[in-house]
Amino acid sequence: MQRTILQTVEPVAEDTVSLLLRGAEGPLAPWEPGAHIDLTLPNWLTRQYSLCGDPADRNTYRVAVRHDRLSRGGSEYVHRFLDEGRTLDVSLPRNHFPLRSAPEYLFVAGGIGITPLVPMLTAAVDAGASATLVYVGRSVTAMPFADELRAAHGSRVRLHITGRHGRPDFTAEAAALGPRARVYCCGPASMLDAAAAAFPAQRLHTERFRPAAKEFAPNKPFDVHCARSGRTVQVSAQESVLDALLHAGFRIPSGCREGVCGSCEITLVGGEPEHRDDIGAPPGRMYCCVSRARSRDLTVDL
Ligand code: FES
Repeated sequence: MQRTILQTVEPVAEDTVSLLLRGAEGPLAPWEPGAHIDLTLPNWLTRQYSLCGDPADRNTYRVAVRHDRLSRGGSEYVHRFLDEGRTLDVSLPRNHFPLRSAPEYLFVAGGIGITPLVPMLTAAVDAGASATLVYVGRSVTAMPFADELRAAHGSRVRLHITGRHGRPDFTAEAAALGPRARVYCCGPASMLDAAAAAFPAQRLHTERFRPAAKEFAPNKPFDVHCARSGRTVQVSAQESVLDALLHAGFRIPSGCREGVCGSCEITLVGGEPEHRDDIGAPPGRMYCCVSRARSRDLTVDL
């Protein structure tokens, strides 16, 4: 955990503010484009936000928060109650959406999905790559950082206003790409689904804010053996591995509880997991807020 002071709260679009968090105890942990942090709010909610400032600035983190009308308390709190000068704890940055090296990039953002792509576009340009941002929104005033991006990157930034132009034609964008181009896309589920239908899977990198709709066989109970402590925890069909482990007294960090943030990652030692997350768990890991067991039991490093 890192302690920060909320230096500024600034409107950057309709319904969206940016927060500038200054390290309260010296430089903040380094990060790379695509990373996010968990922000612990004074009402004890923890929310994940992509870092959208300058990775070279070790003194501050910048994030942007859109006021979600269906807020479960996070963005509502930020927009209504969060004052400059507050002390806020943030996690170390995590990155499940890293920028891979390529000679050409197409970045596709929808609304608040622009946040991880802001530093990515700068990094791609600084690396000498050919880079284009297609930024989709219903109006310019609803699109965070649109002016900042156009000022910094000029014609590399193409604003696509759906109220005027309808949906973007991803098939045409795909046809115009060079053979080694990578596509990074972040936005609403409908946009990610359209991108997945148009761009080759091996070149498309996406990040979801909400879990994709998926279907699994009905939950079954199973046991989790904790190799280091020698304990066994029973997971009922009605609870998650995360909740079962927390009830048993293990301290497991968690954030989204939907399989999109990665904060509840645990190390697997044995058994066959059923991965239900939207991140893509690396080998030997699982996100225990949503993932379960395919085998009769699992062994984890706890
Ligand atoms: S708590 Fe976010 S992936 Fe599990």
